[in-house]
Amino acid sequence: MTDGTSDVAARIDSLRQQIAYHDHRYHVLDAPEIDDDTYDALMNELRALEGAHPELVRPESPTQRVGGAPLAELETAGHVAPMLSLDSSVGEEAFRQFDARMRRALGDRGVRYSLEPKLDGLSIELVYEGGRLTRAVTRGDGRQGEVVTANVRTIGSLPWRLHRAEVEAPPLLAVRGEVFLPLEAFDDVNERLLADGKAPFANPRNAAAGTIRQLDPSLAASRPLAIYAYDLLEADTTGPAAPFTSHGEVLAALRDWGLPVNRDHAWATEAEGVFTYFDELARQRDTLAYEIDGLVAKLDDLAARRLLGSTAHHPRWAYAIKFPPRKEVSQVLRIVVSVGRTGAVTPVALLRPVSIGGVTVSRANLHNREDIERKDIREGDVVRVERAGDVIPQVVERIESPGERGVPFRMPAYCPSCESPLEQRGPFTVCPNAFECPAQLTGRIVHFASRRGLDIDGLGERTASQLVERRLVRQLPDLFELTPGDLEALDGFAALSARNLHQALQEARRTELPRLLYGLGIPEVGAAVAQTLARRFGSLAALRAADPAALEASDGIGSVMAASIHAFLHEPRNAAVLDALERMVETEPIEVVEDAPQPLAGTTVVFTGSLERFTREHAQALVQRLGGKAVGNVSKRTTLVVAGADAGSKLRRARELEIEVVDEEAFVQHLAAIGVDTDELTGGSA
Ligand code: IVH
Repeated sequence: MTDGTSDVAARIDSLRQQIAYHDHRYHVLDAPEIDDDTYDALMNELRALEGAHPELVRPESPTQRVGGAPLAELETAGHVAPMLSLDSSVGEEAFRQFDARMRRALGDRGVRYSLEPKLDGLSIELVYEGGRLTRAVTRGDGRQGEVVTANVRTIGSLPWRLHRAEVEAPPLLAVRGEVFLPLEAFDDVNERLLADGKAPFANPRNAAAGTIRQLDPSLAASRPLAIYAYDLLEADTTGPAAPFTSHGEVLAALRDWGLPVNRDHAWATEAEGVFTYFDELARQRDTLAYEIDGLVAKLDDLAARRLLGSTAHHPRWAYAIKFPPRKEVSQVLRIVVSVGRTGAVTPVALLRPVSIGGVTVSRANLHNREDIERKDIREGDVVRVERAGDVIPQVVERIESPGERGVPFRMPAYCPSCESPLEQRGPFTVCPNAFECPAQLTGRIVHFASRRGLDIDGLGERTASQLVERRLVRQLPDLFELTPGDLEALDGFAALSARNLHQALQEARRTELPRLLYGLGIPEVGAAVAQTLARRFGSLAALRAADPAALEASDGIGSVMAASIHAFLHEPRNAAVLDALERMVETEPIEVVEDAPQPLAGTTVVFTGSLERFTREHAQALVQRLGGKAVGNVSKRTTLVVAGADAGSKLRRARELEIEVVDEEAFVQHLAAIGVDTDELTGGSA
């Protein structure tokens, strides 16, 4: 290595340390020292240096938080110690009994409870080895769970390296915590899903679980998850390297090691104190930045915990008091259907108004035809209604009620907004008249004009809905025929703003193809898919001429998606609108990329053991790009195992199943033989 590169390496190291320090100040301490621009400048410098010196990129560099290569499947791993559940109930009585048990068992020792909000997310085990985050595993069945390290690494508040502190972290540290999606982020995520024509998550917990348990870390990075650490897994608290006597010390140490620990916390030595904190949490519940479903009381004294031990299901030294569910009983007065922006037709129950957790509810979601049939909800029924956080109330179930019942609900055959015949897609009912149905049009205009679409300033919800109501716009191409006079007549417009919007509309007629494709709001076509399609087909006309098989040959587009895109483009009224758009909008030429060769199609590869010539992530990404599959576990479907030094059980299994096994060298040679440039695999430095 020359002196030049060692200078670079030192600078890179320094930048990484500075960024880790500022991440902690910002995400954990809530006390940033530098502004966003200064932070971005550090990050940009690091990115630039790593770009110029790819051999110095490390998986733990903060540049990698944005997410690495997608995985083929999640592996499973055992926990350092079993991850138990909690004993819990609603109401004070059961807790009083728990408290009495504690006092009987501990006698003169007395009890002191650590009181913490019960976060409504998902439990996770974080393993730090030699101070580095090496593994994050979901709770799974309590003994083993799914390895989700790459997704957990995207959480900005989580240190990849523990800070040095007075109490030295043990060489193997397993921390338990809760991953959750703060409410604001949850709203953003759902908004983006809806904009992309996808189903939103029902609640923040599902969103967090769905984000952690999927294969693409860059998707996780786009959803700002958070985490609070709240315990050590038991094995470590007893070890000599972690000489803790109380939970309070444990929390302090977790914090000193740089882990995010919830500041909302209290102590109590009597049951009454526990209830006081519970009431306080209940009052705060709706103003907190995240969802909680109760409180957890844990004995502070770790020796007392060991004395009490655990059942197979839960520790005997902790208890959760849960909030009563936000459920109420009401009656369905009528069932109507509403048409959403994407054409989804949803049955909605109009209810006798009922107060649930302080909010009056008079409408509740019945989701879709299958759901309504399964629950068998009819007009006049008495039902249980649930409000989960800020989410739309839902009809949970029908309650047996005396008297004659109404007739079963039937989905209408025609759209209540535009009278088109409705179509059934699996459990969902949709209005196929995407571009002209008034119920869909306002939202479609907003989406068309959005930042990632044609990016037309001054065309938001308020303007779009007036254009639709006044019948100035009956379909998207009408936008380009509006005159300044038409616009000036709208509420909130004057001569100048009307001229500006008119000009913005005319300028938008020359645009980039990915923007046009995104703006059309084709089901399942978000910004990324729009990019792919644009690069593959080069023009709207070519895309429309493609058959489903050609669509499916594009990167990341499966058969279901291909069929749905094709159907959308060829729905007769949609096709007429697209004809008009093709005449009015011109897209900039784009270089069409031919299909990448797929020499590994049909091959399923497992990498195991320690690899020296390349990283597993690089190799897996390359296999996928070449049309093969890279998976974590050996099965009958595996066709090739690449084994490094000290490969263990997977290698044995491969031998049992008589699957071909090669070493790294042979794998690289095989790739070279089929014409793959293997420089990419070894980072160009082999
Ligand atoms: S302690 C063995 N503390 O609640 C005791 N759990 O319903 C370990 N949870 O699976 C759990 N907030 O995912 C603990 N402050 C908190 C918690 C918490 C949420 C979750 C945890 C557990 C579930 C049980």
